[in-house]
Amino acid sequence: MTSIPPTEKVGAVVPAAGGGERLPGPVAKQFRELGGTPILHRTLWCLAEEGRVGFIALALPAAEVASFEPPAGLPVPVRPVAGGTERQYSVVNGLSALPPEVEWVIVHDGARPLLPPGLVEACLAGAQETGAAIAALPVSDTVKRANEGEFAEATVPRGDLWLAQTPQVARRELLERALALAAAEGFEGTDEAVLLEAAGIRVKLVPGSKFNFKITTPEDLAMAEAYLARAQGGGTAAPPPVGGVL
Ligand code: C5P
Repeated sequence: MTSIPPTEKVGAVVPAAGGGERLPGPVAKQFRELGGTPILHRTLWCLAEEGRVGFIALALPAAEVASFEPPAGLPVPVRPVAGGTERQYSVVNGLSALPPEVEWVIVHDGARPLLPPGLVEACLAGAQETGAAIAALPVSDTVKRANEGEFAEATVPRGDLWLAQTPQVARRELLERALALAAAEGFEGTDEAVLLEAAGIRVKLVPGSKFNFKITTPEDLAMAEAYLARAQGGGTAAPPPVGGVL
């Protein structure tokens, strides 16, 4: 059986400093309500409730850091820090706010509030082999490469394609090394795995969940609302039409 690191050695970095431009509204995306609770509070609860994380560093827009209040009763301490101009730099800032005893880091997007129970543990277990693991989903649709964005130029074999999600877990020293290497080379990636791969670290793919989607657009928020309504027994909400099609 794979041993999971003890809670006090595991810290989470939650990048939540994005502008949320694709989900415009009266408040920033991370503070929009989902089922009556701010998206970010839900994400923090999901991470904290599993009992695998001893500390959370939360990267927020700089203007929100001083006023941020974690949800009442959250069983894990949260340290808010200012995010960076790109997700990668928000992760760097969060990482530097984790206590020295943290040896394993779980990066989980603030915008993924439907993190299923067990996925943090599965990723931590998966990371024991090489020091790094991410939640990901095998691609099930046929994949097209577009020509100038309008016409299908080629069909890409999907057999070995996966969609990366978070949690993304790594041994702290490996993630720090990968981030330092990326900084030295001026490389910016959209997840931690690409930086770890570039540093020569093998990243294990752990089956994620379709429900663990990132809330990016108004359609995503509507889907999350429908999912929660059903999960909470609040009716028989069917998934709403997306782009006019069920
Ligand atoms: O931009 P993307 O959709 O990849 O964002 C994923 C997560 O990274 C979101 O939770 C977002 O708030 C966060 N992010 C961040 N700092 C940025 C950009 C995005 O923390 N500069």
